[in-house]
Amino acid sequence: MTRLVIVSNRVAVPRTGRRAPGGLAVGIMAALNEWGGLWFGWSGKVADSVPFKVDTQDQDGITFATLALSTQDYREYYRGYANRVLWPLFHTQLHRVEFQRQDLSGYERVNKQFARRLVPLLKAEDIIWVHDYHFIRMGRELRRLKVSQPLGFFLHIPFPPYEVLRTLPGHEDLLRCLCAYDLLGFQTELDRKAFLYSVEEALGAMVHSDGVVSLSGARTYSGVFPIGIDVEEVMSQAARGRQAPYGRRLIGSLANRTLITGVDRLDYSKGLVERFHAYQRLLDLHCAYHRNVVFLQIAEPSRGDVPDYQTIQHTLEALTGEINGRFSDYDWVPLRYINKGFARATILGFLALSRVCLITSLRDGMNLVAKEFVAAQDPAEPGVLVLSQFAGAARELKDAVLVNPYDIDDVVEGIARAIEMPMSERRRRWKNNMQLLRQNDITAWRCRFINMLRECAVDKPNLSWHKRSLPSLSLMPSNKSSQPTERLEILSRGMQPSEGVLKHAHAPLSADCRLEVD
Ligand code: G6P
Repeated sequence: MTRLVIVSNRVAVPRTGRRAPGGLAVGIMAALNEWGGLWFGWSGKVADSVPFKVDTQDQDGITFATLALSTQDYREYYRGYANRVLWPLFHTQLHRVEFQRQDLSGYERVNKQFARRLVPLLKAEDIIWVHDYHFIRMGRELRRLKVSQPLGFFLHIPFPPYEVLRTLPGHEDLLRCLCAYDLLGFQTELDRKAFLYSVEEALGAMVHSDGVVSLSGARTYSGVFPIGIDVEEVMSQAARGRQAPYGRRLIGSLANRTLITGVDRLDYSKGLVERFHAYQRLLDLHCAYHRNVVFLQIAEPSRGDVPDYQTIQHTLEALTGEINGRFSDYDWVPLRYINKGFARATILGFLALSRVCLITSLRDGMNLVAKEFVAAQDPAEPGVLVLSQFAGAARELKDAVLVNPYDIDDVVEGIARAIEMPMSERRRRWKNNMQLLRQNDITAWRCRFINMLRECAVDKPNLSWHKRSLPSLSLMPSNKSSQPTERLEILSRGMQPSEGVLKHAHAPLSADCRLEVD
């Protein structure tokens, strides 16, 4: 039986007492529920001496297999190379990159160790899907260990332009590691193009017109798979959240004022400092908004032991003091800056109650909050999304108010436009955005990736996992009785969402389509 194996740094292990997982984890869990499978990665624990044993937990046909990191691994692999090199570099924040050879060794070591620990857990007919920048080297390590199952990689964050990438010592090797996968998935066409250009320039690889990369006799397919959300799940959680005590207390505290909301991890890539400056200028320029708007910024602390994250936290605290010090009145505080996370339903309830959602990322792979805000809205009175043009979501949500976060006045105008927007325009924009969210939801995303990965593997005669061993896998609408089986044809590789395989997936899929193994 074909099984799905997910590899990612964070694993949403059930019953760990942590808050409910985000949209991506929800999507991955749904895929694992359908297929049965294994989710493998870091336990989130750091220990002085790491036990050799992989910690496993089975629940409803899914195995969660996790490993702790040693203190040195955590310092070099996670805090060092992943979050002080790859994260800022891939978000084109070159001045924040702090490359250390030792951290690179740590990254190589952890990828190697995790690959070694994964191998004994694999079965012959598994499909392996690796996620994000923490495990770029995993594919090559697995191939070196004679793993012959299909290997896919999805990059959740942006891929940097070659001029930025080539500042990284050893970038050629990182690119070679990416080429060890059968299929590479990117959030946008811009990211995929940046990758293809880089392998051509740095490695002299042959890039075919359909996005297939040939390097040293091996082929790697690439595709654009913008990640979506589970629209129905968001809608029902948002409805619950707005009725829950938190939602009702928020509404009560507003006293009929217009609510502007931002929800982000506390990260410099989210453009929070720029956002606070824009809000301050909005209040400077528009006295009419004094006492009439409230900006609620939820920023859950993240990677707090990385110095740049500490700095941004202090900057935002100082800015909050400045803004509230200048504009507050005895019964109005213009900015509520909250440094903690909330349960998923609570956040979605807050988004549902917001007239404006502010997303001003300087660079963002996708930004699922943008999509969740749209899905959380009341169709009769939808709020308006103000969205950075540098978030992957802007490529799809064209009916948001798109702004350039590097131009503070553009953001100020965008917020004012969102506040003043007539209801008819709000409804029209929301409807268009919603249509897109439904067409390309989380189910369509994972179905397209997994199907394409299977097809790529079939094309590779050197893999032992070949056509003969493939169960026939269909992408079907869930209502089997009224719809004929719809087989997802891979018409061509590496296309844009509007073409070929993605076009095919866009049209007929309902939000709850499912993968079916005949
Ligand atoms: C981004 C990355 C994820 C990461 C998450 C939280 O969304 O793409 O891979 O898990 O941030 O960051 P953390 O460092 O806490 O895992």
